[in-house]
Amino acid sequence: MRILGIESSCDETAAAVVQAGRDVLSSVVHSQIASHRPWGGVVPEIASREHVGQFPAVAAAAVAQAGVRWADLDAIAVTHGPGLVSSLLIGLSGARALGQALGKPVWGVNHLEAHLAGMFLDPAAPEPAAACPVLVLMVSGGHSCLLEMFAVGHYRILGQTLDDAAGECLDKGASLLGLGYPGGPAIERAARGGDPAFVKFPRGLEHAKGRRTDNGLDLGMCFSFSGLKTALLYHLKKHPADLAQRAADLAAAYQEAVMDSLALRVERALQATGARTLACVGGVAKNAVLRAKLEALAARFQARLLLTPMAYCTDNAAMVAAAAGLRERAGLGNPPALEADPSLPLVED
Ligand code: KG4
Ligand code: ZN
Repeated sequence: MRILGIESSCDETAAAVVQAGRDVLSSVVHSQIASHRPWGGVVPEIASREHVGQFPAVAAAAVAQAGVRWADLDAIAVTHGPGLVSSLLIGLSGARALGQALGKPVWGVNHLEAHLAGMFLDPAAPEPAAACPVLVLMVSGGHSCLLEMFAVGHYRILGQTLDDAAGECLDKGASLLGLGYPGGPAIERAARGGDPAFVKFPRGLEHAKGRRTDNGLDLGMCFSFSGLKTALLYHLKKHPADLAQRAADLAAAYQEAVMDSLALRVERALQATGARTLACVGGVAKNAVLRAKLEALAARFQARLLLTPMAYCTDNAAMVAAAAGLRERAGLGNPPALEADPSLPLVED
């Protein structure tokens, strides 16, 4: 089955053709970073306007680069949530127009399930059925959670952030450090050669193990990043000269606190679940410090590590087409892409 995937939930306009849920024939991503950079973050109005302008060329390029004809596509899969509603609507409208014109079904894909499918886009990764159950750290600009994947379509959330997402925390920290947008890669670059022990920033909820959130999650597997951001703000107020003189050390210490607090929860979840396979998905999965920490944990717990290929960590459409393809292969089917849902949850089942 050949699926055209479409992604427009935030500030990437993307299209891709994926065969059999894993074989990427093409993946085209138009990043809007340059348009949002002057504002220090994503401006929804600018994002949706740029999606409108870019969508036709991006979709056509994905089909051309895949070496297929429009008629060769079996279905169109489009992200229908979660995300910015004005951005989601552009991808949905484009997908529906293509579906009408081509006489092909148009399916709605959950953006979080798409990130999960990203780990299977590594040709060396096992099939989902062989890899599951997988303990997954999902870390992006909008989401941070720990979950168990029992099979395609079957998930259980173990922990989630109580405030900011990990990527959001990096983006806000980078802004305080004057490093620009997006913050994750900017902090990683600025931290090179810096001393991660320069300041011991808080790890958030470090001693919360055993207590429960209102929705019953173990606080020890949840994240909190707002205190870290505030700690950086107060450090800069107290030591303004550090911004110029110790920039690399500050970036390294801040990055270390984010990645350390993620790794601490992964360690607890490995202990609690006895998982044999560990995976990391989402934009922050690109981070080399995080990757190294997860490699060390996987080795210690003798777990197999599935790291999403770099090209499919940040938002892309190959993961969207892959998610739909994996659901078809698992016999679950895909819902029709009817409405955009900005807060579409990952269904636990
Ligand atoms: O998955 P993604 O493209 O979008 C969402 O679904 O949110 O993730 C974007 C996030 C941004 O917060 C960005 O700062 C972060 O991923 N990111 C990184 C790196 N590259 C992107 N964080 C840490 N290190 C990186 N190299
Ligand atoms: Zn994403």
